[in-house]
Amino acid sequence: MKLLGIETSCDETAAAVIEDGRVIHSNIIASQADMHAKFGGIVPELASREHLITIIKVIEHSLDIANVALRDLNGIAVTNGPGLAGSLLVGVNSAKGLAWANDLPLIGINHLEGHVYAAWLEGRDPEIDPGFPLLCLIASGGHTDLILMHDHGKFSLVGRTRDDAAGEAFDKVARVLGLGFPGGPAIQKVAQLSSGEEPRLPRPHVKNSLDFSFSGLKTATIRRAEEKGLYPRTRGQEINESEIANLSGAFQEAIVETMVKRTLEAAKHYRVNGILLGGGVAANTLLRKELVSQSDLDVVMPSPGLCTDNGSMIGAAGFFQFNKGFCRQWDMDVIPNLKLG
Ligand code: KG4
Ligand code: ZN
Repeated sequence: MKLLGIETSCDETAAAVIEDGRVIHSNIIASQADMHAKFGGIVPELASREHLITIIKVIEHSLDIANVALRDLNGIAVTNGPGLAGSLLVGVNSAKGLAWANDLPLIGINHLEGHVYAAWLEGRDPEIDPGFPLLCLIASGGHTDLILMHDHGKFSLVGRTRDDAAGEAFDKVARVLGLGFPGGPAIQKVAQLSSGEEPRLPRPHVKNSLDFSFSGLKTATIRRAEEKGLYPRTRGQEINESEIANLSGAFQEAIVETMVKRTLEAAKHYRVNGILLGGGVAANTLLRKELVSQSDLDVVMPSPGLCTDNGSMIGAAGFFQFNKGFCRQWDMDVIPNLKLG
C-alpha cells in the first residue's frame, strides 16, 4: 500500500511516499529555519504563508522522486494536529483537494503519533523486536511526553512537561547565547568544544510523578550567562567562545541526564519491553548515547534525519491507521492542541 504523507504542522513543509508503513520511496523536506532564524523563533504568520508557497512543489517533487502518479496511490495521510493552526490548515486543505480530485482515501494523523512511527521506517518492526508494550519518549519543540504504547494506535500518556518542552529550552538557551535557531543542533555543535569545567547546573526534578520540568534549568542557565557577562550582549562585545561552549555543554548534560533518568524510571515502573525515542530532540547525539548506554532494555530510535519533522513518519502512521479501515475524512478539521493518549 503506497501512501502520500504530508506534514506542515510547524516550520517544515514536507511530503513523502511510503509503502506499507516501512519503505521510503521519497522524503522531501523544505525547511523554513533560515527564514525564522532572523527572528530567533518561528513566526506563525510567516510559516503558514511559506507553506502555501511551497506545498505543491514539495508534493510534486515527492511524487517525481518516488516515480508515482497521484491516482496510483492508495491514499493520503496528513498531520491535522497538534501544531500551528495556520500551518496545519495548508497541509490539510492541500490533502483534501488532492484526495477529492483523485478519488483517494484520506486520513488525519496526530503529529506525535507520526514521531512514534518514524521508528518503523528503517528496517525494524518495534512491535516484534522488542515488542509491545513500549515506552515512548517524544521530545520536540512543543512536547516532552512519556507515552505508553500498548499496541498499534493504543497510547496512554504517563508523563509530560509541566512547563517548557525540551526543544523549547534548547531554543531559548541558544538564543540567549547568540547561537541562532534552531537551538538544539547549535548547542550540540558548540558543546563539543566544552572543556567540561563548567560547574554543574541544577537537575530539575518533579517529585512523586513521571513529569518533567525544564523552566528552572533554563532560568539557571540564563542566570549563569548573565553572571559570566555573556548575556545581554552589548554592541561590539567580543564573543567569548570557550565560555559559551562550556555553558552549552553543562546545559546539554543537565537536560539529557534529566530526560534519561525519568525515562528509565518510567520504563521500569511500567515493565515495558523496550524504549522508543522520537521527536526533534531525539536527534541529539548525547541523548541517544546516554539512553542506549544506561538502559538494560532495547532502545529503538530513528536516525537523526527522521527524528525531526518529515512526511515519511506521517505516511508510516497513516498505513497503520488505514489498516483499521479506509477513511474518507472530508469533514476533517485542524486541532492545534490535539493530544495523544
Ligand atoms: O519534532 P521537531 O522537528 O518539531 C516539532 O514538532 O516541534 O522538533 C524541533 C525541536 C527544536 O526545538 C530543535 O531545537 C530540537 O527539536 N532539535 C534538537 C536537535 N535537533 C533538533 N535538540 C537537541 N539536539 C539536537 N540535535
Ligand atoms: Zn515534531
